[in-house]
Amino acid sequence: MSLKIGLQRLALPTFERLPLRCASIPTPFRTATRLPRTFPRLPSRPLSRPLSTATASIPFPSPASASTSSSSATAVQPVVIPRSLPNWLFGCSALVFGIVVIGGLTRLTESGLSITEWEPFTGILPPISNAEWDVEWEKYRVSPEGIMTNSKIEMSEFKKIFYMEWAHRIAGRVLGVAFIVPTIYYCTRYKLPRALPFKLAAIGLGIGFQGVIGWYMVKSGLDQEIIDTNSVPRVSQYRLAAHLAAALTLYVGIVSTAIGVRRDMLGKTYNATPAINRFRRLPFVALGMVFFTAVSGAFVAGLDAGLVYNEFPTMGGRLVPPTDELLDKRYSKKEGDTWWRNMLENPVTAQFDHRVFAMTTFAVLLSIPFLARRANVMRNTQRWANGVALAAVGQVTLGITTLLYLVPIPLAASHQAGSVVLLTTLLGLLGTLRKPGSAARAIRAIQTR
Ligand code: HEM
Repeated sequence: MSLKIGLQRLALPTFERLPLRCASIPTPFRTATRLPRTFPRLPSRPLSRPLSTATASIPFPSPASASTSSSSATAVQPVVIPRSLPNWLFGCSALVFGIVVIGGLTRLTESGLSITEWEPFTGILPPISNAEWDVEWEKYRVSPEGIMTNSKIEMSEFKKIFYMEWAHRIAGRVLGVAFIVPTIYYCTRYKLPRALPFKLAAIGLGIGFQGVIGWYMVKSGLDQEIIDTNSVPRVSQYRLAAHLAAALTLYVGIVSTAIGVRRDMLGKTYNATPAINRFRRLPFVALGMVFFTAVSGAFVAGLDAGLVYNEFPTMGGRLVPPTDELLDKRYSKKEGDTWWRNMLENPVTAQFDHRVFAMTTFAVLLSIPFLARRANVMRNTQRWANGVALAAVGQVTLGITTLLYLVPIPLAASHQAGSVVLLTTLLGLLGTLRKPGSAARAIRAIQTR
């Protein structure tokens, strides 16, 4: 009976009247709406038109209403995806992108160790009076960098590096507020599809975690041990890599959520032929490879490894540097750790590894448009596939020129930003090959009945 009521509702022409399947709907209803293995293109009109209003209200029967009878009309619970939600998520991802760029500039201008404390709430405002500036300056002058490399720094210079690091931290706080406040609003005001609040909560936690890991990284450059052992005052390359990896994970999480929500709202799917399904695995692999290469780039940056072997494709006139240089025993601390310690602590090996990972990734990225064409993908997918190859060419060119010109700030910052652009093109490509989420699947099932 309840199914009957459900089917009557399906026949209604407007989107607002369509019942959606969700995980909480009892099995008989679920079985009745099971999807075929392929996902032919959905007619987007009936979905997109009502969604062009401020919000799209998508009612679906609650478990009670699906299993009882005519009382279901009153028990319908609306799932609502506000139209602003994916736009807001795209805005947040743009903020993350901006913060990655500011973070790169902070590192490249050697400003990251200028603020010697972490006060998430009280440290929002920069020093204002001269007395406040003097306090901050004094704290910096007794830090490893203040003692060992910047002992003669003027107040005007100090203010520059202080403002750089302050801008990076304040941008992180802006992201936190710009994400958390709307998340609370959307989650309390609307009944979102079931998985979405969990995803938003995970992203929110990720933003907080990013702040913690950022401070953990800065702390490694303020360690007294640096003064005691007379080593270079810079942050640990391990923590720098973790900070970058967390930022990229956050970015990927926000963008893929935004793309998923928007495509579900528009009822988009892809033409899942066997060839396209096979091709679909490639951008996933490529995404992992770009991520891995980017993290290896953080080791190059953290070890200042862009300042050795400033030539390409050779290193000291050979494609591969001598083994005793790549596997230098001096980096080993105990038996069996030579190879990984060299990979993560020896600038020559870190640079060599980054080259190898980058060129392997580059080859895979270049193959994407050709394999996409062979799989006969939709035009939109092909465009994104071409975009991936283009972004890859740009990124490799930036990497090589950064190396040849001894890491000038504009090139190095663009190279770091380029890795985010590359990830974006891959996410765009994957978006066009995305299987419909539960909301879209339900609508699709309803329409085929
Ligand atoms: C798929 C290709 C590549 C990706 C995704 C990539 C990614 C990155 C990233 C994210 C960083 C910066 C990490 C940070 O600042 O924390 C970096 C640094 C670097 N990369 Fe690449 N890279 C690629 C290709 C190349 C190539 C082909 C070269 C040249 C041989 C190169 C040379 C460098 C150098 C010299 C740095 C250090 C720059 C600095 O000190 O700021 N990269 N890479």
